[in-house]
Amino acid sequence: MATPPPHPRRVLVTGAAGFIGSAFLRQLLSAWPDVQAMTFDALTYAGHRENLEDLPGAERHTFRQGDVAEGEDVARAFADFAPEAVVHLAAETHVDRSILDPAPFLRTNVHGTQVLLDACRTAGLRLVLVSTDEVYGDRSDGVPATPTTALRPSNTYAATKAAGDLLALAAWRTHGQDVVITRCTNNYGPRQLPEKLIPLMSLRARAGEPLPIYGDGLQVRDWLHVDDHAAGLLAALARGEAGRVYHFAANRGRTNLEVVQAICAAAGADERLIEHVEDRPGHDRLYTLDDDATRRDLDWAPRRAFKAGIGETVAWYLENPAWCRAVAGEGLTTFLEANYRDRQAAERPS
Ligand code: NAD
Ligand code: TYD
Repeated sequence: MATPPPHPRRVLVTGAAGFIGSAFLRQLLSAWPDVQAMTFDALTYAGHRENLEDLPGAERHTFRQGDVAEGEDVARAFADFAPEAVVHLAAETHVDRSILDPAPFLRTNVHGTQVLLDACRTAGLRLVLVSTDEVYGDRSDGVPATPTTALRPSNTYAATKAAGDLLALAAWRTHGQDVVITRCTNNYGPRQLPEKLIPLMSLRARAGEPLPIYGDGLQVRDWLHVDDHAAGLLAALARGEAGRVYHFAANRGRTNLEVVQAICAAAGADERLIEHVEDRPGHDRLYTLDDDATRRDLDWAPRRAFKAGIGETVAWYLENPAWCRAVAGEGLTTFLEANYRDRQAAERPS
């Protein structure tokens, strides 16, 4: 095994009971055998202990339930674990929910990020802030956003993520704080909550249920496998430069319709299940990132091809019904049923 680069030995990971956080934690524990990790997670409707089962190096991992927006929770975790660095993934992440109810997004994504920035400043720690291509808003002109492109978020989720990024950059500029920001395109892979496109469509396709595509389905997203994102985050943690923004992308846009057709093929479902429903308000047509500088400076590149990755991902959801049941609490099913019913009703001519 290659010698790992110099790296922090004690890493606190917020949001590691979620989709990307748990994939990152797995890589962190297996790539760096001398690392101790703490998951710090509030276990909202999106966070599940099941995502932390079968961790490699589980004996080097501890779990702490806590809220990033509560200074005392964060202070206690810092005092008990004494981290050397923090990777911050905890967030409210679903655009559709942010349109219906902005409050938790402001609390966690804005206030919570400032709480962590303050705690890291006091303790003199590096903070890697995990952000998104959505902060740039619609790139319908097809020009990939660079890390210095102006932020023009289109919805509350993206606006609160942009606010977190700006607070982190302000902390770097004002206090010389060691912050690194990463922005990534849409992720896919195992353990994504089935309110997001790929797991939701995989499960509905297998059940023979209608597949609700928002609007014309020609919106373009650039899907990156979650393990490629996790590898990029590890590189940013070890080698990222303070005050910089790093992009991670697959550089291959696909329409939502193409993605759902690929899911139907993988799940053995009939494409006639596809149903066009009312569009998401403010729906961005296209996201695209220029990640040349990251590839050069962090020596990072994606390894997973979408064609193989989507088949494996759909199979993972279909082969893990116990996981699907465990994460489908009332908070998820009530939202999904209402979202589908309202969009379908709005689309039907009266
Ligand atoms: P997720 O919704 O699957 O998980 C979020 C996790 O954060 C959950 O475990 C939840 O319990 C926890 N959390 C929420 N509020 C909290 C709080 N107040 N205190 C502590 N924990 C809290 O999200 P994800 O898709 O894994 O995204 C992780 C990060 O990556 C987010 O910051 C998101 O903005 C960013 N991101 C996601 C994508 C994507 O495609 N999913 C793409 C780019 C960036
Ligand atoms: P999603 O997985 O919610 O991620 P994000 O909004 O962060 O990109 O959605 C991906 C794309 O799929 C987005 O353009 C919205 C669309 N979509 C549908 O068409 N139908 C659905 O049921 C969902 C959940 C998403």
